Amino acid sequence: MGCMEPVAGFERFFDTAERLVADLGPAPAAFARLGDLLRMLAADRALIDESKLGALHQSSAQATILGHGPTGSTLMLSRFSAEAPTPVHNHNSWGVLCVVRGRDRHILWRRLDDGSQAGHAQLHIIESRELDPGDVAWFPDVPADIHSQQGIGEAAWELVYFGRDPNARPRLYFEPDSGRVEERAAL
Ligand SMILES: [Fe+2]
Repeated sequence: MGCMEPVAGFERFFDTAERLVADLGPAPAAFARLGDLLRMLAADRALIDESKLGALHQSSAQATILGHGPTGSTLMLSRFSAEAPTPVHNHNSWGVLCVVRGRDRHILWRRLDDGSQAGHAQLHIIESRELDPGDVAWFPDVPADIHSQQGIGEAAWELVYFGRDPNARPRLYFEPDSGRVEERAAL
């Protein structure tokens, strides 16, 4: 799914975003600046318009790729239902997100085991935040890119910017209660 070129209007975002990460590294200083860029995009109704938001609402797809930057960074628009949280999952990448509409509960998890036992993972929550429109959060690079999300009261829409294409490799899906983990294709 998705195109390999940015949708018109996003080229400047990708150029600026990739330059920031090249200069500052994939670290909190860069993530905060990327959050500012995403906040501006999220408020730009010429780029993030009703048709983009509505397309996610009416289809079973919960995420759409808005484009890729020159080195493979990826911008996604995602919708999170209020009915149930997403599975706890990773992305094989760091990511920065900004809420466009609705409110989102964003939970960061940390893996405690060393991964040596196939199919098993021990997780605990390190941060749980409630995000309003315009609020920004991020998850660090592998192996700290484990999170789950859920709309609060109603669905939440978010822009998420990844350092690498999160759909290029299978993700890990965790069941914290049972301690199980399995690798599956992203979509
Ligand atoms: Fe995610």
